[in-house]
This record gives sequence, structure tokens and C-alpha cells, in this order.
Amino acid sequence: MLKGLIIAIDGPAGSGKSTSAKLLAQKLGYLYIDTGAMYRAVTYLAIENNALGNDEQIVELARVCDLEMNYKNTKLSVKLNGKDVSSRIRETDVNEQVSDVSKIGALRKLLVEKQRSIAEKSSGVVMEGRDITTVVFPNADVKIFLTANLNERANRRTKEYVEHGSMASVNQIKNNLATRDKIDSSRDDSPLTKANDAIVIDTTSITIEDQVSLILNKAKSAAREKGIELKVY
Ligand code: DC
Repeated sequence: MLKGLIIAIDGPAGSGKSTSAKLLAQKLGYLYIDTGAMYRAVTYLAIENNALGNDEQIVELARVCDLEMNYKNTKLSVKLNGKDVSSRIRETDVNEQVSDVSKIGALRKLLVEKQRSIAEKSSGVVMEGRDITTVVFPNADVKIFLTANLNERANRRTKEYVEHGSMASVNQIKNNLATRDKIDSSRDDSPLTKANDAIVIDTTSITIEDQVSLILNKAKSAAREKGIELKVY
């Protein structure tokens, strides 16, 4: 039963969502949910099963799959039908297909239900994605929309690639981010958009520590207002 806050963070790829959401969840002892990893895992399943383009098959694969996400020691581990796919779901083929898979309305409905049910069983959650502040939890206690310019986002992603030993040029990454931004923001079903009451933070030139502390301050105010006890570790 949910006793803590729901902190919802949306924004485009590379805007700093994952880094700040993870740190925040750690500081508060809350559950961290990366909803992008869920769409990525289903995209990987679709690729493996030659199901791209067959929406019904993709939804069925998602419905029966066993998806486990665990966040420990600053690392998110994603297990799909018992297999560790944490790195695999960040590879180029998944990057290139995930926005199209994410357009499938019936898939979104299924994953949104899972996201709500996971959060409701937690004792407080930091959830990040594209439609968390608008569709999944429009009444979240804290609603944040992160932005950053495309060059900075591409540089951050390139650095992550290098750290993981993957190969991709800044231009390739920049093109993929721009294409995904366009598809994610223009789809009919729950597009990436800023909720009217979300707080916008431009992370282009601020540090991770500053991002986290800005969101943490909002969380503290929300907790005070609602009489929820917030422990900061
Ligand atoms: O956060 P990410 O870049 O790992 O997300 C991968 C894709 O998943 C993103 O391009 C769009 C989709 N997505 C979505 O449609 N809705 C969400 N709540 C999260 C991600």
C-alpha cells in the first residue's frame, strides 16, 4: 500500500531523467521505475520474435512475458523471461525501433496498468518516462518535466555508449534522438508533452547534484503539504 510520494518525471531522451530519478529514489529509499526500459524490453521481444509490424503479436508477447526490473547499487537490471537483457535493450536496433513500438495503443494500455500496479504496491516511487505526468499519474505528488538541448543530450548519450564499450558516432546518436523526439512527441496516444502543472527544469548547464536537489526540494514541500513523513538517506 502506497504511503509515500509519487514522483513523476518526464522528458526526452538524454534530458537527465534516469540519472536524477535513480539518485532521488536512492536518497528517499523509494522504488525506481524506468518505464522506457519496459518499452525497450517489449521492442527487444518483438525483434527476437520477428514480430515488428504485427501489433497484435507484440501486445500478446508483452502480455505473457515475465519482466523483472531491479535497481541495486546504481544499476538497473532488466530480466525478460529469465534472461538478463539490461545491456541488450540499449543497443542500436532497439533504439531504432522503440518509438514505433511505443505507438501501439493496446501496448501502452497494458504497460500503463503494470506501472500503476507496481507503484501502488510500493512505499513511494520515482517513475520516469514520457507520459508519467500526463497519463500514468496525472495526480502525482511531484511532477517534473526535464529538458536539455539536443547537442548536450547527444553528448551525454555518446559518453554513456563509450562507458558501456559500444560504438556509435555523436551524429548517429543525435539523429536517433531527434527522430525519437519527433515520433514520441507527435504520436496520437499519450505523446511526450509537458503537463500544465509540471515543473520544468532545463538541465543543459546544471549539474546532476543541482537537478536532484531541485527535485528533492519539491518533494519535501509536497510531503510537508500532505503530512507525509519523508526520510532522506
Ligand atoms: O527513456 P528511454 O529513452 O529509454 O525510452 C525509450 C522509448 O520508449 C522512448 O523513445 C519512447 C518510449 N517511452 C514511451 O513511449 N513512454 C514512456 N513512458 C517511456 C518511454
